[in-house]
Amino acid sequence: TISATEKTAEVNTVQQDASLKPLELSVVLPCFNEVANVDRCVEVLAEAMGSTRYEVIFVDDDSPDGTAARVREIAKRNPQVRIVQRIGRRGLSSAVIEGMMASAAPHIAVMDADLQHDERILPKMLRRAQDGADVVVGSRYIEGGSVGEWDETRSAMSRFATKLSTLILPTEVSDPMSGFFVISRDMMMDSVRNTSGEGFKILLDLLASGPKSVRVEEVPYTFRTREAGESKLDTAVLLGYANLLIEKTIGRFIPARFVMFAAVGGLGLIVHLMVVGLFMATDQRFVVAQSVATIVAIAFNYSLNNVLTFRDKRLKGWGWLRGLVSFYVVCSLGAASNVGIANVVFENDYGWWVAAIAGVMVGAVWNYAVSTVVTWRK
Ligand code: GDD
Ligand code: MN
Repeated sequence: TISATEKTAEVNTVQQDASLKPLELSVVLPCFNEVANVDRCVEVLAEAMGSTRYEVIFVDDDSPDGTAARVREIAKRNPQVRIVQRIGRRGLSSAVIEGMMASAAPHIAVMDADLQHDERILPKMLRRAQDGADVVVGSRYIEGGSVGEWDETRSAMSRFATKLSTLILPTEVSDPMSGFFVISRDMMMDSVRNTSGEGFKILLDLLASGPKSVRVEEVPYTFRTREAGESKLDTAVLLGYANLLIEKTIGRFIPARFVMFAAVGGLGLIVHLMVVGLFMATDQRFVVAQSVATIVAIAFNYSLNNVLTFRDKRLKGWGWLRGLVSFYVVCSLGAASNVGIANVVFENDYGWWVAAIAGVMVGAVWNYAVSTVVTWRK
């Protein structure tokens, strides 16, 4: 006789089913507040995929509308469907990466969960990938494709972003901004560790982080209009894109954050000069003009760095005030080291401009390094 627990153990033993067709495609769907779309996503995929064996992985960032709970309801009756629910995290690219890493098929499709991408071209995309393409992109910009009903501003923005992307792409792609593509697991694994995982541009990130010679093919489709829910593309997403471009260009030599910090510093210099000019125009003493300009420029740099350079550690409320004070302290010490170093260089018979640049550089690196660990710690 066997005990009840042994019996259960026997029943629950995982059996490899040799008669089951092997999995061909993992479909990763990033979703945030898409409760009104997830059911339909599963349906349209079933219609499109025919007899292909595939799995569906939704990656949700703890949407307040209950997207994850809805997906779990579907998953109860449909073993093809799974949910990755991340808590305390946001971001399209990082969501896609986590979904891909949780998947099993030799090819992965990435698609929006708002039905804007045309799932009917998936079988064709998969076939091209199985025939040897590393990446197959669903494209709005080749013959037969279209952006659908976008307004002129959004189209112009997209075209401009596409132009910029050629800076970091290893090969020509008509629609590198596409969030709709099929990638081989090998290609994904070759690039995923170098991705920044920030922002919206996961395809671009993967392409810019992978091998130099890749076979990219494109299949046209028409971008649909969103029926339910709303777009999450905002200024933060655009900033994320700027960051990705920096990271993949000069970022290889200098940290992207420092490039951003230095750019803000450049703007701060302009503000400084404007304030000095204003005071001088009203016949104030130079020391007064220079002092006020310094105070204003540091506050300006602080605010801008807080929303751009350190947006992931953004300070608010009392923390903002405390941060401002600490930034003043950091920058005064930075200015002192600037003047000190410049003096030493100057006294060693280098030209005044060499001395000045050396001072500014030392000051900038000091401000960056110290404010990173003091002002925007955590
Ligand atoms: N998990 C997660 N976390 N999902 C997100 C997040 C997030 O922070 N932000 C957006 N998503 C999901 C949305 O729920 C949707 O399924 C998909 O990502 C695309 O987001 P939308 O907000 O609908 O973007 P869009 O339609 O404006 O932008 C589309 O077009 C761009 C090209 O112009 C997307 O396909 C982009 O990937 C694409 O670059
Ligand atoms: Mn959308």
